[in-house]
Amino acid sequence: MNIDVFTLFPEWFEWFSGQRHVANVLASGSTLACVNPREHTPLGAGQVDDTPFGGGAGMVLRVDVLDSALRARYGVDPVVLRQRRRVVALAPSGRELNDALVDELAAEPELTLLCGRYEGFDERILEHFASDVVSIGRYVLSGGELAAMVLCDAVLRKLPGALGDERSVHEESFSVALGGDPEYPHYTRPAEYRGWRVPDILLSGHHERIAAWRRERSRERGAAAADRREGA
Ligand code: ADE
Repeated sequence: MNIDVFTLFPEWFEWFSGQRHVANVLASGSTLACVNPREHTPLGAGQVDDTPFGGGAGMVLRVDVLDSALRARYGVDPVVLRQRRRVVALAPSGRELNDALVDELAAEPELTLLCGRYEGFDERILEHFASDVVSIGRYVLSGGELAAMVLCDAVLRKLPGALGDERSVHEESFSVALGGDPEYPHYTRPAEYRGWRVPDILLSGHHERIAAWRRERSRERGAAAADRREGA
């Protein structure tokens, strides 16, 4: 998979790209490249943002700047680009990221991520250049970079070569294998610590009964999470 991140802070992604599972996927042929819109702005003095029409605090990323940066990278009108390639803008107003969307994005050969800063994007960027607007939760970050890293992390770890054991992706929280429920609890040695014993079933060696026990714990956790959401 080839991922391009449009960000005013490309140096943040240098650290991210060096982390083990990210580095592993990059070593097996995937790429993570950054494009800094400031380097493609048609305006003077590296300007990329402006004050909002109608007044209000903060600065807004300009549509003409993103237009230039996307054209410089792909050589086509961004309006056409989004028909060919997933162009995901990270914004709190977007569709909330979940495992199904991560799977969908992980199946793409190429992804473009747009990070907003300050007050966010001129709305025309979201309307005309983005194929998707994605949020990582109902809170506001100071920019889209951390959200883009969350998305990249979730997507890249699904790709072959990211994790040592492919089963860990198959049977993890919210996966189809677990019916969309959170993962069951894990335990390791010691079998007893300060009087806290690991459930006997896990030490029994009965693989089928262990699988059934785990499935049941996942279901319980799923039901508890649903209750919390309803109560929220
Ligand atoms: N940018 C700022 N806040 C965000 C959020 N919650 N999700 C995605 N992008 C964002």
